[in-house]
Amino acid sequence: MDTNVRYNIYLTYVDFKRGNFKRYRFDIKTRVLIDVVTIFSKLHINQIKNMPSLLKVALTTFLLGIDMAVGDYCSTIHSDFTRRQLLEHSVDTPYDETGGAKHVPFIEIENGMATVTVGDGNPFHPMVASEDPSTVHFVSHIYVMDQDGNIVHLENLDPVQGAPAVTSFEIPSGTTSLTAYEWCNLHGLWVGPTVDVATEGTTMPTCSLVHPTEASWPSIHADLVRMQSNPPFSESSPYTETSGAKHTPYITLSEDGTSGSVVVGTEEVYHPMDGEKPHWVTVIYITDENDTIIAMKNLDPNDVDKAEMTFDIPEGVKEVSAWEFCNLHGLWKGPSVSVKAAVTMEETEETESSPAAYTQVSVAIALLGLFATL
Ligand SMILES: [Fe+2]
Ligand SMILES: [Fe+2]
Repeated sequence: MDTNVRYNIYLTYVDFKRGNFKRYRFDIKTRVLIDVVTIFSKLHINQIKNMPSLLKVALTTFLLGIDMAVGDYCSTIHSDFTRRQLLEHSVDTPYDETGGAKHVPFIEIENGMATVTVGDGNPFHPMVASEDPSTVHFVSHIYVMDQDGNIVHLENLDPVQGAPAVTSFEIPSGTTSLTAYEWCNLHGLWVGPTVDVATEGTTMPTCSLVHPTEASWPSIHADLVRMQSNPPFSESSPYTETSGAKHTPYITLSEDGTSGSVVVGTEEVYHPMDGEKPHWVTVIYITDENDTIIAMKNLDPNDVDKAEMTFDIPEGVKEVSAWEFCNLHGLWKGPSVSVKAAVTMEETEETESSPAAYTQVSVAIALLGLFATL
């Protein structure tokens, strides 16, 4: 199991006397998750019986929380692709094999592993990396649902790797069938045939935010420019500050000019990060004075109050600009910032984890301390 995977964990604290409850949510690394589950499994039944009832409720809901925790980001991605399918292709369901095998994600299962390949080889779907918005054509995402509609695997694909578009993963425990989806930047959302799983695996499902590889940055930018030029935006260039501060990505540089941070919007109104609607800043990236991309990160809208990122500035860069793409409101470019000017800045805001993140860590530490003393 990959111990670097992070899970969102829910802890519901029920207070029967006051008749209310509080719900905590924090992300946690698999390694820690394994440790917590191990502690649970070593508890003697009498230890559980003698627990205060409140702790029993918390323990039960904590375990339930693990089960429901995976996949918020992936659900948001699927919801947005479904929205775009209707907007850009005028159908409210994914295309399927009746539209041709070239775009269909086919699943093959072997030794507990599932492999998804887009196309049947006659042909495979092309993966055309390009800085030209009129040329770039690739499968940007493959994701897989189980029999209950839970997304158990998602991967962003790098067009530079070439065809076929393929991804593999270990089949999670509890899986009885799998159905794969893929998004082609030009031809929309496609679903493949459902495949039965004879032998379930032993791993937990994982589905989390993945950042684009550096090689894919130019193609992703080209595709965003292409989308900006198409309805509903129909613009030949990105929107700027003159169209509103809420969508504008603003850069703050560190005092020594070696790094920076970006936030979309201002204190008056930050851009929303709503994973349910969904409406969010899907990606932020940075260009230098030569329009070369020097950093790019995808964003998860769930459980954050604003869109932000940090980045390092390569030596020799004189000017930086931030770009962002809102899934509903298109491509935006913020005001350029001179890197030299940063040296004269008296005060800069350090990039740091949000207070909410500290709270989440504190809750997690307190929780682990509590279990460790049982
Ligand atoms: Fe395509
Ligand atoms: Fe927006």
